[in-house]
Amino acid sequence: MKNDAGQRPSNFQLALKNKKSASKNDAGQRPSNFQLAPKNKKSASKNDAGQRPSNFQLAPKNKKSASKKLLLAVPKGRILDELYPLFARISLIPEKDFFNESSRKLIFKTNRQNLEIVKVRSFDVATFVKFGAADLGICGSDVLEEFSSAEIFPILDLKIGKCRLSIATKKSSVDGQKLSQPQSDLRLFSHLRIATKYPAIASKYFSNLGIQAEAIKLNGAIEIAPKLNLCDFILDLVSSGKTLAENDMAEVQKVMDVSSHLIVNRASLKTANHEINQLIKIFDATK
Ligand code: PRP
Repeated sequence: MKNDAGQRPSNFQLALKNKKSASKNDAGQRPSNFQLAPKNKKSASKNDAGQRPSNFQLAPKNKKSASKKLLLAVPKGRILDELYPLFARISLIPEKDFFNESSRKLIFKTNRQNLEIVKVRSFDVATFVKFGAADLGICGSDVLEEFSSAEIFPILDLKIGKCRLSIATKKSSVDGQKLSQPQSDLRLFSHLRIATKYPAIASKYFSNLGIQAEAIKLNGAIEIAPKLNLCDFILDLVSSGKTLAENDMAEVQKVMDVSSHLIVNRASLKTANHEINQLIKIFDATK
């Protein structure tokens, strides 16, 4: 229930303590994208075309009248191997196709009537939660740091998906120099180019070192960029180190440790306070 600094976000506490404040924002105003409360349970999560409304709904008048259907966004890829035991521990059972990598399905029912899961790319988890298209998400601290959005609350460190975000370079040569060891003192560079999925983190990191860094955004296969002389360095996730090794790269510096967090959309935390807090308790109990 705590953030990286070991503290609960202050407005999370507010939302928990004061149910009355659920429909208003910190300035005491309703967020502009709120809709009227659903008239009945059926309309609460889907419209006539069977689609989820694009914006938020007001909290139900009382707990009995409607339990808001929640959407949890989770990342595709290898994290699923760790999500399976986590979901099993909290008795959350998604429909069969969820763990079938070859299925093209994106949205999945679960054994919890008020919870559906959508499977998207890791960066898109943050986007869906930021804009309230998903109420909750499971998202790496790397993505959260890159997004740095006030609309997203990291509620729980789930302690899965552990890896690190590191700067790496070619083992062989940098700026024409043959190096037996990877360049370990970045301060020798006054200017460098770095390929990454994380341009904001890279720019901030090098700016703190007093180095002018040109961050080139790539979406994958980052490790090939120095080989093709696109850049001197890369900033990317390292887990086993196999990808770096197989591409003749070496780690230079760790920028941050990474793990997956349960995140919540700011408005959803207010509009579906009861349902979200129930889920948070369930996830928290497994820690
Ligand atoms: C990540 C990352 C590296 C790799 C590192 O990619 O971008 O390429 O994992 O893992 P390792 O140290 O265990 O080799 P991912 O497999 O998530 O695919 P992506 O490039 O499509 O994001």
